[in-house]
Amino acid sequence: MKKTQIITTVYEYDSVEELSKEDQLLVNQAKDAAHRSYAPYSKFNVGAALLLENGEIVQGNNQENSAYPSGLCAERVAVFYANAKYPDVPVKAIAITSRTNGNFLDTPVPPCGSCRQVLLETEDRYNQPIKVILCGENKIRIVDNIKQLLPLFFDKEMLNE
Ligand code: THU
Repeated sequence: MKKTQIITTVYEYDSVEELSKEDQLLVNQAKDAAHRSYAPYSKFNVGAALLLENGEIVQGNNQENSAYPSGLCAERVAVFYANAKYPDVPVKAIAITSRTNGNFLDTPVPPCGSCRQVLLETEDRYNQPIKVILCGENKIRIVDNIKQLLPLFFDKEMLNE
């Protein structure tokens, strides 16, 4: 038996002002998107904003449905929209924010497993890392790429083996 460890590197900030201007803009766009989320069931409003290689910013928010599994997370709404509109343009970064009871959460909320898998595919598709900015009011966490959030991932290499 051999024990190995997989290490994730997370950069933590106490305030959004510590981020670069580019990252601050993306966080503001994610917050803006959260205000338009459709979440009448969970009342948990998530906003995501993607920065594309061509400078475009694409927003997404969670879209719920009375048949619960038919809804979709903010991150996948944003990524699928970006991939639909700009299929040849890599995604450089994603900012994610969450709101409930009229306030943005203090804690940075990470993307769910399915969103990580979809973001991983996008990272692989364009062969370019996607920086992830998880923004809470009291803490911001940044990782350099999706693989940091998804160790032992499944991807297309396995299909080809
Ligand atoms: N949600 C997201 O939009 N992103 C995530 O990564 C986690 C969860 C949404 C789905 C649902 O509309 C609500 O938050 C509660 O789970």
